[in-house]
Amino acid sequence: MPSLGDFIHAQYLLKIPIPTHSFASRTILITGANGGLGQETAQHFVRLGASKVILACRSLAKGKITKLAIEKALGCGPSVLEVWELDLESPSSISALVSRVNTLERVDVVVNNAGIHTMSGFRTVYGTERALGVNTIGTFLLAFQLLPKMKETAGRYVVTPVMTTVTSALYEGAKYPEGCEDAFAWCADEGNVEATGMAAQYDLSKLLQVYVLIRLAERVDGLGNDLAGVVKVFMKVFQAMTARTAEEGARLVVQSASAGREQHGKYMRCGEVRAYHPVALDKNMGDEVWRALCNRLQELQPGVMRCLE
Ligand SMILES: NC(=O)c1ccc[n+]([C@@H]2O[C@H](COP(=O)([O-])OP(=O)(O)OC[C@H]3O[C@@H](n4cnc5c(N)ncnc54)[C@H](OP(=O)(O)O)[C@@H]3O)[C@@H](O)[C@H]2O)c1
Repeated sequence: MPSLGDFIHAQYLLKIPIPTHSFASRTILITGANGGLGQETAQHFVRLGASKVILACRSLAKGKITKLAIEKALGCGPSVLEVWELDLESPSSISALVSRVNTLERVDVVVNNAGIHTMSGFRTVYGTERALGVNTIGTFLLAFQLLPKMKETAGRYVVTPVMTTVTSALYEGAKYPEGCEDAFAWCADEGNVEATGMAAQYDLSKLLQVYVLIRLAERVDGLGNDLAGVVKVFMKVFQAMTARTAEEGARLVVQSASAGREQHGKYMRCGEVRAYHPVALDKNMGDEVWRALCNRLQELQPGVMRCLE
């Protein structure tokens, strides 16, 4: 967990500037964009001139209400915002969204924002507890498959697409089930989950996200590569805030989407790159999670690992 001083600084003292970076002619996709941080993030991108902002939502009806609210607030025309259906618990819904994305001219920014915080009611999705299923497995089943379009965009338009994932500083306090080899399988057992408490699942799902993001960033844009003349995909990890308005939290998401190449694969907190907590750098646990996740994604969508090539 962040220290008390860090928490007070992040939540109450830090002033987050309103983003001014232009997203003119850019296409943006935001998951879970029908409310909270996702909606406010979409509103910033529209204000900053994006030509297309796709609200990927579980409920089309909720998404349409959000679209109208943003159009009314900013006075923008109906062609900028689009509402697309996405349920991260459903591989067929994810596949349908990916197929649609592949028909687009370009994808410049993806914000992996959708997530759940299950407090009660044990349920499994993708063979694991639901928070891990949605926040980790569903999120990356989609994210991996969006990378080829982003790479294509990079080459065609000579731009540097950005994928940003909204994690949480709560990952620092997560209790990883050490020695289990497959945290997803371990969390499929209701007894195991009840022993640590349902609320702990959210923190664990965010730690697993961080393990995966560190490894995904290495594969998507190896830091040792010669980057001269090559345009690659960025990966940024972002931690939102708990005591701020969603609009202020969204400023940080947009900031991470406009930051430079040197922030590839980095953890952004309070608007700046921060060191990962030591738990995020545990190689054994991180590699274990990566292997377990890749096996599951491969079962759900054979060939999905080719998206990282
Ligand atoms: N708010 C914070 O203080 C805070 C702090 C740290 C991190 N975060 C992270 O920030 C992100 C957004 O949080 P928020 O506070 O804005 O929460 P929120 O208002 O509950 O928004 C979550 C969004 O995710 C969507 N979603 C949930 N399950 C989904 C699924 N299976 N498929 C597709 N979409 C799904 C929700 O759709 P429905 O409306 O249909 O449920 C909603 O649009 C989350 O990843 C959260 O973990 C938030």
